[in-house]
Amino acid sequence: MSGGVARLDSATLVYGAGERRVTAVSGATVEVAGGKVVGIVGPSGSGKTTLMSMLGTLLLPTSGAAYFDGRDVSTLSVAQRRALRLGRVGFVFQQLRLMQKLSALENVRLPLVLAGREDGERLRRASELVKAVGLEGKEGRRPGELSVGEQQRVAVARALVNSPALVLADEPTSQLDSASGQSVLELLEGLCAEIGAAVVISTHDQKMRERLGEVYEMRDGVLSQG
Ligand SMILES: Nc1ncnc2c1ncn2[C@@H]1O[C@H](COP(=O)(O)OP(=O)(O)OP(=O)(O)O)[C@@H](O)[C@H]1O
Ligand SMILES: [Mg+2]
Repeated sequence: MSGGVARLDSATLVYGAGERRVTAVSGATVEVAGGKVVGIVGPSGSGKTTLMSMLGTLLLPTSGAAYFDGRDVSTLSVAQRRALRLGRVGFVFQQLRLMQKLSALENVRLPLVLAGREDGERLRRASELVKAVGLEGKEGRRPGELSVGEQQRVAVARALVNSPALVLADEPTSQLDSASGQSVLELLEGLCAEIGAAVVISTHDQKMRERLGEVYEMRDGVLSQG
């Protein structure tokens, strides 16, 4: 392998059947490697979330192949895929999916708890990350007691707490004004560079693309180098 973390090879994803059949992604080929920031730019409904879900092993291609750490994802069991995601992938979901009853710090720690990796060093890392994303003093607040931008920062910290090899950020700044969006993006890039993670960021904001290094365009499920 060329050091790539995740790779799609002519991957197609079809939802539904019959009249409800939708080809969300069609024949996508892309590889992401540690230290790289890859942007996926495309309008609503073009297939960005679906593509990222295949990169992160949440969805298996209907045809074509997905590889993670050089292994064909279709050969892994559901449990193996889940363990892989917990240990190797950090997600910043479009809907942030923070736990409303947990504090900011507890949300950030949650992946450690789920992975059974709550040793002292990692718990300290969670506290450091909460500070690094600018939420010092707000560790004890629940998501409902934070602004949207602050919640997005909690989601970024949570995605990084396991020091993942791949970070998938699905429109991480969509609900923010451009200045706050920029700062969340810089934060994400800086923290990922520290741990050498591969980063994939999706956006429908054409302005964001100037900030991203390698950019792909998504149109009606078709990925092309932008
Ligand atoms: N669970 C699903 N079942 C059926 N169709 C779906 C499902 N999820 C997405 N789709 C369809 O697949 C296509 C791609 O959707 P996807 O969510 O990947 O787009 P997107 O680029 O992430 O859009 P957005 O910018 O609005 O988040 C769309 O036509 C959408 O309606
Ligand atoms: Mg989406």
